[in-house]
This record gives sequence, structure tokens and C-alpha cells, in this order.
Amino acid sequence: MIPVNELVRGFRLYQKEYEDKALEVLRSGWYVLGKEVSSFEEEFATALGKGCSCAGVDNGLDAITLGLEAAGIKEGDEVIVQANGYIATMLGIMQCGAVPVFVEPDEYYQLDADRIEDAITPATKAVLVTHLYGQATRMDAVTAICKKHDLALFEDCAQSHFAPYKGVNTGLFGKASFFSFYPTKNLGAFGDGGAVVSTDPAIIEKVKVLRNYGSDRRYHNIEIAGNMRLDEIQAGLLRVRLSHMDELLANRRHIASRYLSEIKNPKITLPLIADGCDHTWYQFIVRADDQSAFMSFLKSEGVATDISWQVPPYLQPCMKEKFGYKSGDFPVTEELCAHIVTLPMMEFMEEDEITKVIDAVNRYKS
Ligand SMILES: Cc1ncc(COP(=O)(O)O)c(C=O)c1O
Repeated sequence: MIPVNELVRGFRLYQKEYEDKALEVLRSGWYVLGKEVSSFEEEFATALGKGCSCAGVDNGLDAITLGLEAAGIKEGDEVIVQANGYIATMLGIMQCGAVPVFVEPDEYYQLDADRIEDAITPATKAVLVTHLYGQATRMDAVTAICKKHDLALFEDCAQSHFAPYKGVNTGLFGKASFFSFYPTKNLGAFGDGGAVVSTDPAIIEKVKVLRNYGSDRRYHNIEIAGNMRLDEIQAGLLRVRLSHMDELLANRRHIASRYLSEIKNPKITLPLIADGCDHTWYQFIVRADDQSAFMSFLKSEGVATDISWQVPPYLQPCMKEKFGYKSGDFPVTEELCAHIVTLPMMEFMEEDEITKVIDAVNRYKS
């Protein structure tokens, strides 16, 4: 069976470098907030683009929570997000005491800029876009609306490391951006990890305080806060992976370009690439006329698939209970959830595996 993803392939690509780095950290005797974390923060910010800085944290959810808090989002504020996003984005907003307000996605699966204005109320303080599946949101349009209504703009870049919009990397458009280094991500650790990136040094300094017991210097605590630090081993391993990023993204783009040019089946809709976007293919999402028949057929052909996600965040039990959402509230999102299917996409696929996926998709008749 060809898996949707198999993380050990990514490890094997640079196994010796990962093992050497892990041993180096183990032998160093320094395991938390040391030179690996500060070097990674510098290298990641430099790789993203001029003028930003970075604070490593323990995961993507905490990056969202701490980043929003450091940027002033608080109890009662409304933050606009896309209805087909990931629950962690909404949880980060809610952990600040704020309220996520949903907007339907566009044909690229990103927050539909044309619908944002309808969702603005006097309590709206920010728009938080998630650049979903590895492609940037149409940032010209979103930025213009935020400016017009004096809203802060934030970016969830958990799925969009080095995915540019008009030549500028996602993560550099808003007041702050939030990254996950969960192992499946295009820049993935071998455990949990995350980061806040901002061109405002005050936000990064505040996140560094909030991630470490509210401490601005040793044994001096200025905030009531938690422990949300990135550890040295993960930071060291991330530095190794970061050094190979161009090659890793080229590999994903090669797989996607074969899917895009060789999948030809009228029952399957291929993903669209928006003007100005250079997709990084965190996930390759197609739409099928019959989601479950297509998935069962591919399984019988030895190709695993997945759905990201079948139940949208506002219909998860915790959200329904808290906000009273119901099926039918966001029909574009629900139509997507009922048809999207994730094809295999990982850090390394043999050419004959790619061919096998393409042939199986092309043989599907429903
Ligand atoms: C869009 C999005 N936001 C946030 C997160 C949360 O990241 P983490 O799993 O590191 O907490 C994820 C990851 O899974 C994600 O895909």
C-alpha cells in the first residue's frame, strides 16, 4: 500500500546528519533554550526574509496562542478565520479569550477575501488567515481589507513554510505569523515544535517571556505564564532539515507536477493554483464526485488516502456546544468536506509509486 505519508522516509534522506546532530546535542549537556534554539530562530527568520525575527515554542497551537496574546488579542475580541481551517487555529484564538468568526473559503481553499467584510462587527479586531495545504492566500485582497477596516492581520503558516505570494514568503504579511513543526509539516521536527515570526521585535520579545514562565531574565517573572519552550534537540534537528528545504520543496513540486499533468479523469477535480502563488504541496487535495467510492477504489488499488478534514471545526462537538453552530451554516465548506480527498505526498516517492497513484486515479470510474 502506498501511504499518504511515511515520516521515516524523510528521516532516511538525511539520516546521518540527523543522528550526528542528536548526538551532538545529547553530548553537549545543554538541553533547553541554548544555542540550537537561538541558531534555529536566527536561521529560520533569515531564510523567511529580511526584517523578521522568530521565537521558537513548543508547538503550533501555542505559537498561535502566545503570538496573538503578545500582539494584544484579548477577551471578547472577534478574529475572522476560514470555516474550512484546522481546529487548532480556533483553539489558539479561544485560549486568548477571543472568539473565532467563520468565513467561507474560495476556489483555492483559502479564506475568501470577498466575503470578509460581511463578517466584520464592532468587536472584530483581526483576520487570521491559514495558508492551507501549502498555498498562500490571496494576500493583496486580504491586506487591503485589513487596512480599510483597521484590523490586525495574522497568518497561520503551519502548512505554508516557504510558500510565497508574489515572491514574498507567507509569514511576512501580517503583524505576526505562527508556524508548526509537527513531524508531517514541510519543515517538520521529530516531535513537537512551533514558532512565532514577526517584523515587530516587541512581539517576539514578549513571546520569549510568555514561553518561559513570564520571565524576562533569570529568576525574574513579569507575567503570569506557562512553559512553552522549544527544546534543543528539536531545534537542532530543525536546523538540519531547514538546510535541505530547497531540495525537499523541489521534490514535492515534482510529485505535484506529475499529478497535475498526468491525472486525467473527469470525475476528479485537480487543485487550482492562484495567480502569484508558488504552491509548496503540503498536501495534494483533489475533489471526487463520490468521496467514499473513490477512497475505497484507491484502497483496493493499493493507494492510501485521507481527508483533511471531513468535519469542519465549527461542527466539532466542542464548538457546536459553545457557539451553537449547525450543519448548513457554511455550505461551501460542507460541500468541500464531502468531496475532498488527500493523495499520497511525502518527502520521498519513487517514480513508480507516483505512476501507480496516477494510474489508479485515472482508472477510477465510480
Ligand atoms: C493549519 C494548522 N494550524 C495549527 C496547527 C497546530 O500545530 P501543532 O500540531 O504543532 O500544535 C496545525 C497542525 O497540525 C495546522 O495544520
